[in-house]
Amino acid sequence: MYLAHLRLRDFRNYARLDADFTPGFHLLLGDNAQGKTNILEALYLIATLRSFRGVGGAQMVRHGQKGYFVGTNVVGQGSHDIKIYWSSQKRNLSLDAQPVRKLTDYLGVLRTVVFCTEDLLLVKGVSRARRRFLDLLLSQTYPAYLPLLQRYTGALRSRNALLKQPTLNTATLDSFSRELVAAGNEIMRLRRDLVPRFLPLACQAYQRIANGAEELRLEYQPSVRADFEVELAQSRRREAAYRSTIIGPHRDDLELLLDGRPAAQFGSEGQKRTLAIACKLAQAEYLAGIHGSPPVLLIDDIMGELDEKRRSGFLPLLDRAHESRGQVFMTATEENWPKELGREVRRWRVEGGAVVA
Ligand SMILES: Nc1ncnc2c1ncn2[C@@H]1O[C@H](COP(=O)(O)OP(=O)(O)O)[C@@H](O)[C@H]1O
Ligand SMILES: [Mg+2]
Repeated sequence: MYLAHLRLRDFRNYARLDADFTPGFHLLLGDNAQGKTNILEALYLIATLRSFRGVGGAQMVRHGQKGYFVGTNVVGQGSHDIKIYWSSQKRNLSLDAQPVRKLTDYLGVLRTVVFCTEDLLLVKGVSRARRRFLDLLLSQTYPAYLPLLQRYTGALRSRNALLKQPTLNTATLDSFSRELVAAGNEIMRLRRDLVPRFLPLACQAYQRIANGAEELRLEYQPSVRADFEVELAQSRRREAAYRSTIIGPHRDDLELLLDGRPAAQFGSEGQKRTLAIACKLAQAEYLAGIHGSPPVLLIDDIMGELDEKRRSGFLPLLDRAHESRGQVFMTATEENWPKELGREVRRWRVEGGAVVA
């Protein structure tokens, strides 16, 4: 799978960009604040319809403009044209010149995994970062997951709105509760099933790049202990105090343990960093295994900062990308693409919102 073309209009600091890309490795070189990460952000946006910087559409519109356009041609099984337009008034998403009606028809046309400094939040950040990681992995492998998550979130919002009303309509609350429990049980089941399948890949990646030999464990920690319906009913008194739903998959966590201790509290900075990268490597390997070819890898700035051991963790993935005509985009401020990864690399210079070969 690879992107043959990228077209940007009024996206971040790009007034207009048209670039053709071959399969293989692309190195985006340039000083700080020139637009390297913005390119990766656009590629990730095509794949997920979100920014990996966690911002909304308005921030990606070039200053002083009304809306942005991102277009691409993805070559995988077949060739697909994608067009995304966003403004505060209007959003358009089209696949092969047809408006996209169902997200499930769209997601999966391009799969990416991004490696960036924010990955550390997976280990150090709040549980939301880890839920997002699980959710992304599930939606990249199981088309029905996203609609399911949307169903759950919809029920949760309605239920929370109701709990904030001065007088509680219990009949309506019960109907939202049933919807919440039905969707929630399915989400928990999928998350619980995922973890043991993902764990061996994360352990392997960790062993490959860690200097010590700590044992890695990932434990799914659902907020529901045994029976969602029963526990939700039992939480009613506390719910009335908090005026929101305090139990359910929106409160789940994924615990990351090194030698049995939570990495966030007891790991060294180096271990945390290694663990975050291992999770991302495992994500890419998991997707490669399921779909038969690796996702497009977006590697932002980190390669030059990693020691040789950690860099070597990328080798199996890079080999696989190479064999299957996949694609890798890396950014760097100077020529610091490590030699031992030695491959044919196409170099691009990024300067002030322009990209030249
Ligand atoms: N919405 C926007 N409109 C115009 N310029 C933007 C916008 N958002 C960010 N920029 C500019 O983009 C540049 C940063 O781009 P980035 O890709 O993060 O740089 P780097 O090359 O260091 O990765 C900065 O010059 C910033 O001012
Ligand atoms: Mg950058």
